[in-house]
Amino acid sequence: MIISIPKETVPGERRVALVPELVPRLVQSGMEVLVQQGAGTAAGFPDNAYLEKRAHLEAEVFSQADVLLKVQPPTVQEVAKLKEGTLVIGLLQPYNHPFEIQAMAERGLTSFAMEFMPRISRAQPMDALSAMSTVAGYKAVLLAATHLPKFFPLLMTAAGTVTPARVLVVGAGVAGLQAIGTAKRLGAVVEAYDTRPVVKEQVESLGAKFVELALETSVLERKDGYAAAQSEAFYQNQQQLMTQCVESADVVITTALVPGQRAPVLITEAMVQRMRSGSVIVDLASEQGGNCALTEPGQEITKYGALIIGALNLPATVPFHASQMYAKTVTNFLTHLLKDGNIDLDLNDELTRGPLVTHQGQVLHDVVKKLLLAASKGPI
Ligand code: NAI
Repeated sequence: MIISIPKETVPGERRVALVPELVPRLVQSGMEVLVQQGAGTAAGFPDNAYLEKRAHLEAEVFSQADVLLKVQPPTVQEVAKLKEGTLVIGLLQPYNHPFEIQAMAERGLTSFAMEFMPRISRAQPMDALSAMSTVAGYKAVLLAATHLPKFFPLLMTAAGTVTPARVLVVGAGVAGLQAIGTAKRLGAVVEAYDTRPVVKEQVESLGAKFVELALETSVLERKDGYAAAQSEAFYQNQQQLMTQCVESADVVITTALVPGQRAPVLITEAMVQRMRSGSVIVDLASEQGGNCALTEPGQEITKYGALIIGALNLPATVPFHASQMYAKTVTNFLTHLLKDGNIDLDLNDELTRGPLVTHQGQVLHDVVKKLLLAASKGPI
């Protein structure tokens, strides 16, 4: 069985789906690993590091693949190069790339979107989303610290005392908790808020203050651990209650997401207007539209004296460790799909069925099917 690792082609994508240290694990399971020349270079893994681990290097790796390991979704042109029945594993972003998903179904590929891995303890070693959120949360703080015209820590020097920066983290999931930890390590005073009450203890255990907002609703958390969507009135109420915290913060890091939906707008233009000049907002929800009303995804803009960073794909900016972590989750998942060295799909296993998006010519995911249906009736 040939496992192919192509070089990622999306601009700015520096990660690679398999790192050299994991090649022996696949080779020992009887697989042949084929790496496209230069695939790992941008992440800090040169070609010879793969060769040393008994991978093969080729200029083209799509046409021979039995299993294709990717970071970004393959393009329609790449899909056309693959054999029918090839297994594709990657962060396929099905909601943003429904046509690529359709192309994979039409080509008869079996594809798995790592972001659809169920959040159950058995699946933790395959949780690519958490791994990448960890990287994003860390990098968001470093970005903020670099752009803030202030120190993060309290400093007592002969030249005077410097008060610590105040950081507010909105959304304390995986990325938010990592942002809290990183900001604390840099010496900032950190506050955080999340609609899921269960998070309070986790925030406090990191040494940050949990902001209590008097927001009433019956369901704040879904059964799967994600935040439940709320009404527009709820979000308006939240904006009002958060105004004071946002105003007094030097840095606001927003990570609030609701699965399958546009990110809720929690920081309004009026709130930005009231922030101190030089303040920094890093909007990690940019990919889903942003938590700040003024965010321009992929851009750094200054409005009313505040810098708003519409951060996209931060994991690609820490490519060595992001690749190492991602590759580990992908390899664990691939190993899970094997029985006696061969692919053996148990569709009754939620770990296999959850991330499965195309199989035997069909798109299997309901939301993607709806997107494709809507697209067939007009632009999405
Ligand atoms: P996410 O990326 O979907 O959302 C980020 C955070 O935003 C969440 O904590 C959410 O509650 C929060 N949020 C949503 N709306 C908000 C609002 N209006 N105001 C403030 N915050 C808001 O979530 P993420 O980080 O991927 O994980 C969420 C949870 O999933 C984790 O905390 C954990 O409970 C669970 N999880 C379980 C895992 C497992 O068992 N394998 C692995 C990872 C996460």
